[in-house]
Amino acid sequence: MTGFPERPVRPGDRLRPAVRNSGSLLVDNIGELVTNSFGAGEGGPLGIRRNAALLVEDGVVAWVGSARDTPAADRRIDAEGAAVLPGFVDSHAHLVFAGDRAAEFAARMAGEPYTGGGIRTTVGATRAAADDELRATVRRLRTEAMRQGTTTIEIKSGYGLTVADEARSLRIAAEFSEDTTFLGAHVVPAEYANRPDDYVSMVCGPMLAAAAPYARWIDVFCERGAFDVDHARAILACGQAVGLGVRVHANQLGPGPGVQLGVELGAASVDHCTHLSDADVEALAAQRVDCMCTEGGHTATVATLLPGAEFSTRSPYPDARRLLDAGVTVALATDCNPGSSYTSSMPFCVALAVREMRMTPAEAVWAATAGGAAALRRTDVGRLTRGARADLMILDAPSHLHLAYRPGVPLIRQVLHNGVPQCRP
Ligand code: NIG
Ligand code: FE
Repeated sequence: MTGFPERPVRPGDRLRPAVRNSGSLLVDNIGELVTNSFGAGEGGPLGIRRNAALLVEDGVVAWVGSARDTPAADRRIDAEGAAVLPGFVDSHAHLVFAGDRAAEFAARMAGEPYTGGGIRTTVGATRAAADDELRATVRRLRTEAMRQGTTTIEIKSGYGLTVADEARSLRIAAEFSEDTTFLGAHVVPAEYANRPDDYVSMVCGPMLAAAAPYARWIDVFCERGAFDVDHARAILACGQAVGLGVRVHANQLGPGPGVQLGVELGAASVDHCTHLSDADVEALAAQRVDCMCTEGGHTATVATLLPGAEFSTRSPYPDARRLLDAGVTVALATDCNPGSSYTSSMPFCVALAVREMRMTPAEAVWAATAGGAAALRRTDVGRLTRGARADLMILDAPSHLHLAYRPGVPLIRQVLHNGVPQCRP
């Protein structure tokens, strides 16, 4: 994985960035530590500990306890009473693209609807871009996200839509993330207009063969104007047959079969979930898995909500309360892409979820960390308990509540990724 670029220490820096993860590192004087270990502390699933400390060894959390009995360590970071949280897990992002669609955004703000039609504009620009231009964009957005607390980010292809362009998108994505997703079925490209069956055959055949070596997941945009349920099922099944896990862009622009298709196929996540029927919610809620990460476990198929997309397309927000009250596991992610949601900011999504989707701050923080990990079927991130990756953020604030209470404020003081302190913003 590509490292977060170091920058020289500036006068006035409170913490001196360490540049290695050898030896032990103690983060102490933590006013509020969010562990996401259910039952481990107060605050329900956030597992909050007060006046805490945390020891990192070899890039993982080796010990969590009271600041009163901290073990010896080679190095120390003083959190100065601030809140420390697991790094955000952004489980849905489209970072491999060229060009921007600012004019399309302006037109939407003036009343134009979002239809997904602009995807083809980005496909044209992406196909024309050199590898290094695409790589530079992924690096820039990855860095931007890290500065806002994101330590794990899923990256999709989907703006190439030829065998060669999908394969190179994923090859580049894999330089930056372990969670790469093949989205050859984003839309039917112009050269296959009126021949969707031929495009689906190509996606399942040579395109999947070229993409699979660089991908962990397969995704389909199952929506009117993109792929219908039969095409989506066929493509996802081909991906499963070569060992890829399933995710679905579902029920974004209107009601549809995407969510139930995802549940039927055992998808790790169905994403967007903006227009849900009672049957969709029931199908999601019925799939329970035993685990100690939340009270009563979590649902096998996570509902990943992407409020940046509703913000940027001026659409109604998904009904998070209805999903949570039904017992569905909810994740929050950015959907970072040049069309429907050009933000890399998980704090922004947390604030939107609290203000516009009636999630409590604790639910939103859990969804943006442990929820994202569940959506990626990962147990090594999204929590700060013994054995987890030492991916964490120190806030310039005393509590996780401030992420929603102080929207738009750069509250991320310091990020550790694999135990290595990154540049301060
Ligand atoms: O998740 N809905 C499909 N894909 C993206 C949008 C891509 C675009 O508009 O460029 C999404 O919102
Ligand atoms: Fe998306």
